[in-house]
Amino acid sequence: MLDVRGLKKVYEGSGRRVEAVRDLTFTVDAGELVCLVGPSGCGKTTLLKCVGGLLTPTAGEVLIGGRRVTGPPPDMAVVFQEYGRSLFPWMRVRENVELPLKQKKLTAARRRELVADALASVGLMDAAGAYPWQLSGGMQQRVAIARALAYEPRVLLMDEPFAAVDAQTRADLEDLVRGLWRQRGITILFVTHDIDEAVYLGERVLILSSSPTVVQEQLKVDLPADRDQLHTRVAPRFAELRTHVYEQIQAAKRGTPVADRLVKDLTDTPPPQ
Ligand SMILES: Nc1ncnc2c1ncn2[C@@H]1O[C@H](COP(=O)(O)OP(=O)(O)OP(=O)(O)O)[C@@H](O)[C@H]1O
Ligand SMILES: [Mg+2]
Repeated sequence: MLDVRGLKKVYEGSGRRVEAVRDLTFTVDAGELVCLVGPSGCGKTTLLKCVGGLLTPTAGEVLIGGRRVTGPPPDMAVVFQEYGRSLFPWMRVRENVELPLKQKKLTAARRRELVADALASVGLMDAAGAYPWQLSGGMQQRVAIARALAYEPRVLLMDEPFAAVDAQTRADLEDLVRGLWRQRGITILFVTHDIDEAVYLGERVLILSSSPTVVQEQLKVDLPADRDQLHTRVAPRFAELRTHVYEQIQAAKRGTPVADRLVKDLTDTPPPQ
């Protein structure tokens, strides 16, 4: 579904040259939920902008369904990191969520239905008539998520979408994303700097090195598909996987890859008696 090949992005201007992303190659299968973790400033947002057709790569390419991305692809929605800037302050919540649907050939009744469903799924039915600036940061972020869901994308890109919400809401939203992913079979690329979140949500975790960025490791998350906040997070396998990701990120910061030893050890270890 998503094919990133040799992606490189160098920002130039104002006498400054920043090689944000050096060489990224990975794929995401149709209907897969992949999490991307990496240290702050390693180019995660840059990568998502290239995938979303909002930035042109310096080298390499992004393909979606075999077609090269040259602008924002149809059937894709993005939830940005800076949610405060992604909602229109002069539009009510309902209108913000409805706006992208106007590009689609839908009846007004169908649009209203999609908006209501999306707002209900993020628990914001009561806020439909409010303006974004009347809501808390976490609520605004849920509006941005609702807008992406209402659009019914085939591919959903999310850039640290829960960074500004409280822990309880965050847990609920994580479950919401996994639930929607399982129901609707959307392809999701989810960026986070939270290791636990990456392991809890993902079927696979891509660990990025620090800048200039390459893929440090790809880790399959072999936890059962049925996950819940109470049991999954205390499962021994969850702890092993998060420890591994943590060590990889530390190694990425030092610039020395950890050998695959740990993953092999983990998979070779017989279950406790
Ligand atoms: N428009 C821009 N012009 C110049 N440099 C930029 C621009 N956008 C980002 N950069 C630089 O590119 C690098 C990667 O930035 P990016 O925002 O992609 O990182 P990130 O991994 O998303 O960070 P964070 O985890 O803090 O969100 C940084 O060094 C940043 O300063
Ligand atoms: Mg970012």
